[in-house]
Amino acid sequence: DWVMGDYISEAVEKIQKQVGKEEVILGLSGGVDSSVAAALIHRAIGDQLTCVFVDHGLLRLNEGDMVMEMFARNLGVKVIRVDAAPKFMSELAGVADPEAKRKIIGKEFVEIFQSESAKVKNAKWLAQGTIYPDVIESAGKGKKGAHTIKSHHNVGGLPEDMHLKLLEPLRELFKDEVRELGLALGLPREMVYRHPFPGPGLGVRILGEVKEEFAKLLQRADAIFIEELRNTIDQQSGKSWYDLTSQAFAVFLPVKSVGVMGDGRTYEYVVALRAVQTQDFMTAHWAHLPHELLGKVSNRIINEVRGINRVVYDISGKPPATIEWE
Ligand code: XMP
Repeated sequence: DWVMGDYISEAVEKIQKQVGKEEVILGLSGGVDSSVAAALIHRAIGDQLTCVFVDHGLLRLNEGDMVMEMFARNLGVKVIRVDAAPKFMSELAGVADPEAKRKIIGKEFVEIFQSESAKVKNAKWLAQGTIYPDVIESAGKGKKGAHTIKSHHNVGGLPEDMHLKLLEPLRELFKDEVRELGLALGLPREMVYRHPFPGPGLGVRILGEVKEEFAKLLQRADAIFIEELRNTIDQQSGKSWYDLTSQAFAVFLPVKSVGVMGDGRTYEYVVALRAVQTQDFMTAHWAHLPHELLGKVSNRIINEVRGINRVVYDISGKPPATIEWE
């Protein structure tokens, strides 16, 4: 609409004034905030923006290709894609502790992002998709009594180490405004209304040690779950179950159980499905998905993903459980 159109021209002008002829780097994750920031900054300064997309191999099925398709191919944004999966896998080998895994993933991420960014000569700015709630949240971090339950990480570098000026064009926006802006900039609805995805990705959805084999199984199971959620419309609201849930995903349990297929016995892994409804992600209810939907997802996963022979549904609220399993 025209209000958003005005907003975009103002924001574009502000970025142009701020940046001048200098070069900007942005860490692209495929998430809503960094994507909208990239689209907006690209609208303002075109090829002066270079995005660095570190693919840690723990993204959703085909996500890396989809990010490249949308930004590099459709929007013509300069994107450096780093296939860092082998590096992450080798760093994670033998590590089962959730916090240790998070720390390794976060540290690798920053190192790779910084060394790739250093290749962009003359870069003077680091752009980030920081939104208003992030500003509030990090202001509260220094408060007494605040403690970490999980060490969070997001994309982006450490600006202090990188000697770059910070460009944060979404700093004053709430999430719903960021989404509207994304739509107005031409990003597809599915991407703008996507469920959040944690920085450490499937690294915290594969319990215990992360292995490439597990990641491949999990990606396929998760994609089936998401596809069915998107395709199943709730009659009462007319909305899909994807839109009726705040976050939904599959979790890989490195536990084998016995099953039967044809005349044979199987002994394979378990996948848990998690779907929650929440306003702020601080507390959450498990989603009362229709049993037919759960049944279909379970059948499809067991039939299509060889290596998984049992699917369970997580009916824990937050608190006491967290949304992610690690
Ligand atoms: P929990 O599991 O703590 O998750 O109930 C709350 C929300 O935070 C997301 N999450 C993360 N997001 N980096 C992120 O960007 C992280 O390290 C991270 N860990 C959890 C989680 O997906 C949920 O939306």
